[in-house]
Amino acid sequence: MFKKSVLKVAVSAGVLALGGGVASAGNVEVLHWWTSGGEAAALNVLKDDLASKGVEWQDMPVAGGGGEAAMTALRARVTAGNAPTAVQMLGFDIRDWAAEGALANLDDVATSEGWDGVVPDALKAFSKYDGHWVAAPVNVHSTNWVWINKKALDAAGGKAPTNWDELIAVLDAMKANGITPLAHGGQAWQDATIFDAVVLSMGNDFYKASMIDLDEGALGGDKMVEVFNRMAKLRSYVDDNFSGRDWNLASAMVINGEAGMQMMGDWAKGEFLRADQVPGKDFVCIRFPGTQGSVTFNSDQFAMFKVSDPEAQQAQKLMASAVMSPVFQSAFNVVKGSVPARTDVPNDAFDDCGKKGMADLAEANANGSLFGSMAHGHAVPASIKNAMYDVVTAHFNGEYDATEAAAELVTAVADAK
Ligand code: GAL
Repeated sequence: MFKKSVLKVAVSAGVLALGGGVASAGNVEVLHWWTSGGEAAALNVLKDDLASKGVEWQDMPVAGGGGEAAMTALRARVTAGNAPTAVQMLGFDIRDWAAEGALANLDDVATSEGWDGVVPDALKAFSKYDGHWVAAPVNVHSTNWVWINKKALDAAGGKAPTNWDELIAVLDAMKANGITPLAHGGQAWQDATIFDAVVLSMGNDFYKASMIDLDEGALGGDKMVEVFNRMAKLRSYVDDNFSGRDWNLASAMVINGEAGMQMMGDWAKGEFLRADQVPGKDFVCIRFPGTQGSVTFNSDQFAMFKVSDPEAQQAQKLMASAVMSPVFQSAFNVVKGSVPARTDVPNDAFDDCGKKGMADLAEANANGSLFGSMAHGHAVPASIKNAMYDVVTAHFNGEYDATEAAAELVTAVADAK
C-alpha cells in the first residue's frame, strides 16, 4: 500500500522501479467503448503508459460507438454495488454521476499539477462538479467533420465543398461515378452526429437556441424543417445496407473507395491512419460545409468511481495524473484523431487534420462559436439527448416528413424535460 509521500514520487517520476522492474502500483479496471481498430490503437498508448508506471490494467470494453451500451453496462455494475474504478465518460453523464455522489474527488492531483490553468473552461464545465475535480479529460473530439476519399473527390471534380449546394453537387457526381456517395451506419447516435452538423450549418445562433437552450421556436420552426429536409436529402445518398452498420465499417467503405465520404467525428481519422492512409494524399478532412469557423465538441474524460481500498485510490490518482501528462496527451491524440484537452501541448506531432483541429478549436473557443455536441452528450442531459435521437432516427428512416419531425422534436423534448 502506498503512503502519500510515495505516491507523490511515483506521480512525478512517472515510474517506480524496484530491482530493475516496475513495482505494482495497483490495478485499475477501466470501462470504455474503444473497440474499433483506431480506438484500440489509441487505448494501447494509454495501457502502455500505465504499465510503465506499474498500474495494472483490467479491461472492461463495451462495444458500441458513442457509448450508449457502455453507459447501460455501467449502470448495471453500479446497481450491483460493483463500480469499475475508472470509466470513459462524456459530458452530461459525468455531471449526472457526480450529482449522485458516485465519483471520487481528484482535487489533490489536480491542484498539485495545476490542471485549472491548462484545461479550457468548456471542458472544466464537465470535469468539475461543485468546484471539485471529478474527471480527467483525455482529449477533445469535434463532430462537424467530413472525411472524403481523395481519388473519389478528384473524380468528382476535385474541389472540396464549402456550402450545401457544393456538397450536393459533389455527392451527385460521386453517384454518377458509380460509388456510394455517403458511407453511413444506421444507428441513432450516427444519425444524430450528422444532424448536429446540419443544425450547426444553419448558424451558430440556431444551434445554440435549438440544441442547448431548447427554445421551442427554434426546435419546431422553419429552420428545423429545413434541417430535416436536408437530412432526408442526405439519406438519399446512403446505400441500402446502412441499417445497423458500425461507424468504423462506414469509415472502411471510404478508405477502400467503395464510398465517397463519411460525416463523422474525428475518431474516424484513427481508422484512416490505422489503414496507413495519409491526409491530403489518400483522404481529405473538411468541416461540414457551412460550419467553417464553428466547432461542436465532445471530450472523453476518465471519471473515477469512489472506491474504499486505499491502493485502488492511489492507482486512480496515478491514472488521472498519467492521462493529464502533456507528453501522453500528444502521443495519445495523434493516434486517436482527437486533439489534446490541455491548451499547452505543442502541435508538432500532429498531422495536417490534427493541426487544423487544434487551430479550429482555439479559434472557435475565442470567437464564441464552440458548442457542446448534442449527439455526444455535451449539449443536454441523456434523457433529452435520447428523446432527440428517437425523432431524428424515425425521420431518417421515413416515419415522419420534415414538418412532422420538427413538431415531434418539440413534443419529445418537452416530455423529456
Ligand atoms: C464518441 C467518443 C469517441 C469515439 C466515438 C465512437 O462518443 O467520444 O472517443 O469513441 O464515440 O466510438
